[in-house]
Amino acid sequence: MYQEIDLDNIDINAEPPVEEPKRQYYFLAKCRRLLKNKEQELGRKLTCHTETFGCQMNARDSEKLAGILELAGFEEAGSEEADFVIYNTCTVRENANNRVYGRLGYLHNLKKKNRQMRIALCGCMMQEASVVEKLKKSYRFVDLIFGTHNLYQFAELLYRCYESDKMVVDVWEQSAQIVEDLPVERKYPFKSGVNIMFGCNNFCSYCIVPYVRGREKSREPREIVREVERLAADGVVEVMLLGQNVNSYGQTFDPPVSFASLLREVERIEGIKRIRFMTSHPKDLSEELIEVMAHSKKICRHLHLPLQSGSSRILKAMNRKYDKESYLRLVEKVRQAMPDLAITTDIIVGFPGETEEDFLETMDVVQKVGFDSAFTFLYSKRSGTPAAKMECQVPEELLKPRFDRLLKLVQEIAAQKAQKLTGSIQTVLVESVNDHDASLVTGKMDNNATVHLKGTPDLIGKLVAVRLEECRGFYYYGKLTDA
Ligand code: 5AD
Ligand code: SF4
Repeated sequence: MYQEIDLDNIDINAEPPVEEPKRQYYFLAKCRRLLKNKEQELGRKLTCHTETFGCQMNARDSEKLAGILELAGFEEAGSEEADFVIYNTCTVRENANNRVYGRLGYLHNLKKKNRQMRIALCGCMMQEASVVEKLKKSYRFVDLIFGTHNLYQFAELLYRCYESDKMVVDVWEQSAQIVEDLPVERKYPFKSGVNIMFGCNNFCSYCIVPYVRGREKSREPREIVREVERLAADGVVEVMLLGQNVNSYGQTFDPPVSFASLLREVERIEGIKRIRFMTSHPKDLSEELIEVMAHSKKICRHLHLPLQSGSSRILKAMNRKYDKESYLRLVEKVRQAMPDLAITTDIIVGFPGETEEDFLETMDVVQKVGFDSAFTFLYSKRSGTPAAKMECQVPEELLKPRFDRLLKLVQEIAAQKAQKLTGSIQTVLVESVNDHDASLVTGKMDNNATVHLKGTPDLIGKLVAVRLEECRGFYYYGKLTDA
């Protein structure tokens, strides 16, 4: 356990250990020495900055990067004007990649002003050979590139980056192992993401994730429970169990372990008050899970259930393995078990071959389900995926109006749903001081909706009863109550 490891007592002149995570602690100790020397040379502390693009999995990975950087001796700068900047990238849609290329130009300018500066890139985008080629050719000022499979080696890579005056590139095709017990620097003291599995086996035809994150691998239940117990002991009250498809958790174990049984174990951990999870694939959502959720006092009344499309024809082409009717039946079933459940979703507009009729099927499901909120995306062609080779890519001029129609409907329905809770009393986990008004604090309800209320920073991390006074579309203004 990293809190118990005395980094200053590791013999950094010995040969590096072979086994993990020992090897990484050895390199972390070497980084510490290296940074101390640099500090003395410069007469100041070295600063770092971690920037995250993409999903919750990446956010959690960035906490691991930040944990290493802090123990190495860096101070977080809060912006890219730092001595070590790392971008944890996303590649799920083309514009995610473009944002990174855009920001790299800015980093290059900063590097010209700070000769100490090192630039590192990691995450899903780096798993694409064409990206790495482009970076090697046209972005020579980048110092370190690694991928999703060797993130656990960050301490070693950081050391290599400082020892080399050339670009260090280390991207693996697949994961060799899950390395436990590495340092983590949590963004919030009271809530935390917990990876329960890595990778994805579903190969939805539009999606690049299975190619960049590799095959599904679940963490051992006892490791997950051990991590949550430690988080609870450290003051965490809310955990978010993370995986690309949590419903297929543990299916590769012999004998298999179900996600529902993992939830039961996490529920038993004292100190944990709220449990969330993400993401659920509709095809694998079990009766057992519905039952565990319905009887749980801790699992939040929120289910993120990506629809992607409401057209059975398109869903087949997407390789989603459910159709419009079975999705609607599933929603009915979960609502019957939990009438107060908030259901949110992801929808893609403009998958190849999507006709106006297909799109209207999507609008129909949105109407029928009445999602509490939905992330809507324009289809983005990802090379290497089966959908990229499909004919009849939908022309731009059709895409945008469809997207706007969908967004309007989603927002109208979400606002109607949200309005219904006005006047009720809800438990809110206060998360931060409000960005715009320091007399307010901001928190999250069980169903994941945001609430702003008058309050002081000492409420942060506490679960409080709040009367919802005013609904502003998808968020609320509320007031502390004693109830
Ligand atoms: N184009 C648009 N959206 C996509 N997503 C995944 N791949 C693509 C793509 N190629 C969306 C899906 C998924 C969410 C995380 O991103 O809706 O659920
Ligand atoms: Fe992508 Fe489908 Fe896997 Fe989700 S389930 S990560 S959409 S392939």
